Amino acid sequence: MSVGIDAISFYSSHYFLDMRTLATARGVDPEKYSAGLGQERMAVLPPDEDVITMAATAASFAVSRYRKDEFDFVIFTTESGVDQSKSGAIYVRSMLGLARETRVIEMKQACYSSTAALQLALPYVETHPTRKVLIVASDVARYGLNTSGEPTQGCGAVAIVVSASPRLIEFDGISGCVTDDVMDFWRPNYMREALVDGKYSSKLYLHALDETWEKYSKLSGRGLRDHARFCYHLPFTRMAEKAHQRLCSAHYGNELSKSQLEEQIGDSLRYNRVTGNSYSASLYVGLTSLLDNSKEDLGEKRIGLFSYGSGCSAEYFSGLVKPGYKDWLFTQNHRELLEGRTELSYEQYQEFFSFTLPTDGREYEVGKYKTGPFRFRGLNRHKRKYETVSVGYATSNTSPS
Ligand code: HMG
Repeated sequence: MSVGIDAISFYSSHYFLDMRTLATARGVDPEKYSAGLGQERMAVLPPDEDVITMAATAASFAVSRYRKDEFDFVIFTTESGVDQSKSGAIYVRSMLGLARETRVIEMKQACYSSTAALQLALPYVETHPTRKVLIVASDVARYGLNTSGEPTQGCGAVAIVVSASPRLIEFDGISGCVTDDVMDFWRPNYMREALVDGKYSSKLYLHALDETWEKYSKLSGRGLRDHARFCYHLPFTRMAEKAHQRLCSAHYGNELSKSQLEEQIGDSLRYNRVTGNSYSASLYVGLTSLLDNSKEDLGEKRIGLFSYGSGCSAEYFSGLVKPGYKDWLFTQNHRELLEGRTELSYEQYQEFFSFTLPTDGREYEVGKYKTGPFRFRGLNRHKRKYETVSVGYATSNTSPS
């Protein structure tokens, strides 16, 4: 029986900072960000959105095709969670009105956790072929103002419905994995921003790619030519270009031409280039971007996927695109979101970035900004309050008391 992805949808903030604005503020040549890192815009969350509202909005598209009682699990993956105990999946389940029988869990391993969630969900739906698993990967990448990581910030969420007889992509369980105990990127509980050894992290990413590809290739008997397209974890788009060129050089003895590179990975980079890193969501934002933007029909074609999470865990695997997949995408929703965003000035970006919540338990209402159908309303006695909104206006309270 085939198992895989039956639906995939994406959401990010309605606000962005143009990388040229950031470059001017930092006194940096804008080409460093556009050509050197491959980034044009960076999504910035307003104070009344968080990983929960992003995840619920991304998932609201994907789950709209199913009955509310079809899901056995909601798996929430993040490294920018809002609570150390309560899973983000509980909020998402309740915002979406999924059945109370649904199991909920939150998982973490930097940017890799969403792939671990997928690998756990696939055998589950194989043994429960009438049931679905909803994975929501949602993250805000924060390194701090005026740090070298700052231009690689961003945010976003992806929702993936895993099922038997999937309509988008099927997987065969073959993959190459590697885990190492390294300190390339981490965020202690007492810090709001990640710490990173940037150059070291990029080296480890490439090293993990070599190793996992080797293992995957040996186990599957497949070479690069068996894959029509490639998706990479995307901390910034140039990272994927470098990674793919490295793999191709080792395989073919020389790098790809610009047009070959564009053909093999170009469509997977489009959304990340204008939203930035979204950690655990990032690889699957790339996959969504590829499926939405490929002019060529990818039905029956194989896609190679490389997942990397600092710390570090990595996995190389691949999926076969199903014929007719285009009928089941949410391309229009994604385009409308990205085309309708509001550009921030540098001062507004600083203001959004520096926003903090009170920690003394008093009641606090967050100001209203442009959001998806869910917004973070504020805090009361340390409890987070969310509400549903219609075109940016609050309509009803969705928070438990
Ligand atoms: P940096 O030191 O500011 O930048 O940090 P640089 O000096 O290395 O320049 C970057 C590129 O721009 C270079 O290209 C320059 O040559 C080029 P390269 O040599 O690498 O090909 N450049 C220019 N190009 C055109 N015109 C110019 C110009 N000037 C320079 N005028 C770094 C860059 C990525 C290290 C930094 O932004 C950083 O630390 N980012 C965060 C860490 C990161 O993204 N690591 C990636 C791998 S680890 C990973 O993906 C996991 C992660 O997602 C976390 C998780 O798993 O949860 C991060």
